[in-house]
Amino acid sequence: METLRLKINEEDIERAGGIIKEGGLVAFPTETVYGLGADALNAEAVKLVYAAKGRPSDNPMIVHIADIEGLDELAQNISDYARALMEAFWPGPITFVLPKKALVPDTTTGGLDTVAVRMPSNETARKLIRAAKRPIAAPSANISGRPSPTTAEDVLEDMDGRIEAVLMGESCKVGIESTVLDCTGDVPTVLRPGFVTKEMLEEALGSEVAIDAHLLEKPETVLDPEEGAAEADFSPKSPGMKYKHYAPKARVRIVENDVDRYKAEAEASGIRTAVLDYGKNSEEAAYSFFADLRRLDREGIGLILVCALDEEGLGFSIMNRMLKSAGYDVIE
Ligand code: TXA
Ligand code: MG
Repeated sequence: METLRLKINEEDIERAGGIIKEGGLVAFPTETVYGLGADALNAEAVKLVYAAKGRPSDNPMIVHIADIEGLDELAQNISDYARALMEAFWPGPITFVLPKKALVPDTTTGGLDTVAVRMPSNETARKLIRAAKRPIAAPSANISGRPSPTTAEDVLEDMDGRIEAVLMGESCKVGIESTVLDCTGDVPTVLRPGFVTKEMLEEALGSEVAIDAHLLEKPETVLDPEEGAAEADFSPKSPGMKYKHYAPKARVRIVENDVDRYKAEAEASGIRTAVLDYGKNSEEAAYSFFADLRRLDREGIGLILVCALDEEGLGFSIMNRMLKSAGYDVIE
């Protein structure tokens, strides 16, 4: 199939909405990363997303809405704290896991009785949802296991020829995926850390927010996406967190000290080596990390040494992505 390159104007966004309505796939920009969108209420369309990404079907999709009115057909029994946090952070880079309504197909939620919902702040994303006149299921628009795409070019690198269209927008402002917050229990629990941190949530709520215990573990090995869930002894509540993720072709290692020494050693043995050092600038690290991994792959680098960040606030979220991309290989 020939993948259309669509522009960010009313006519092309309308056209993209029409493709989604008819059960096709369109990649589109959000403030976090590019999404690969399909009609969330059409199980057949959602199956095409799993196929295009090569994604295991037990890994559920995030459902995107343009306006708060869109929430009621998807979710029920929404707690007061979830409402308060939506008020504080939507539209924006946070996803709420809520008890689902029957209208949402099992294919969209990977068979779970909950649904993950996000209202993005990116205007193109919301115009697309309105043009499609339905909620849009959208995982990140990468081949499963690869770094998430933060530019339209990165989307095409993985998806050209596999999907109907890409809305060729600007690069994503945040650069890492949304925070995923489980709102089905008494205490909100972060399942995937993102731009909206635990500290920001606690400040908005005035009470404690939990972190899923699996986020604090450093597993020895992480499953390859193709291996499926059957052999997992690591079963976090957010199914996507158990798979090998964000891996470029190059080997990635996290380095806590002496990065110059490790670089010199690798180069002495003939390995083309690059260093990613964002200093203490975690916003810059979020914005650049996935894009840098893809760029270094294009340059044919063999080893990427990533300087560890302080695991505080946004740093915790980025280190989560860095550790996964390295398969938890840390040089202490
Ligand atoms: O920023 C983002 O969230 C991007 C943009 C496109 O919105 N989307 C994204 O989707 O990152 P994806 O599919 O790559 O990641 C969704 C994550 C996965 O870890 C998945 O397991 C989790 O959300 N998830 C989805 N539905 C869930 C549910 N009902 N319960 C627990 N976790 C869920
Ligand atoms: Mg993803």
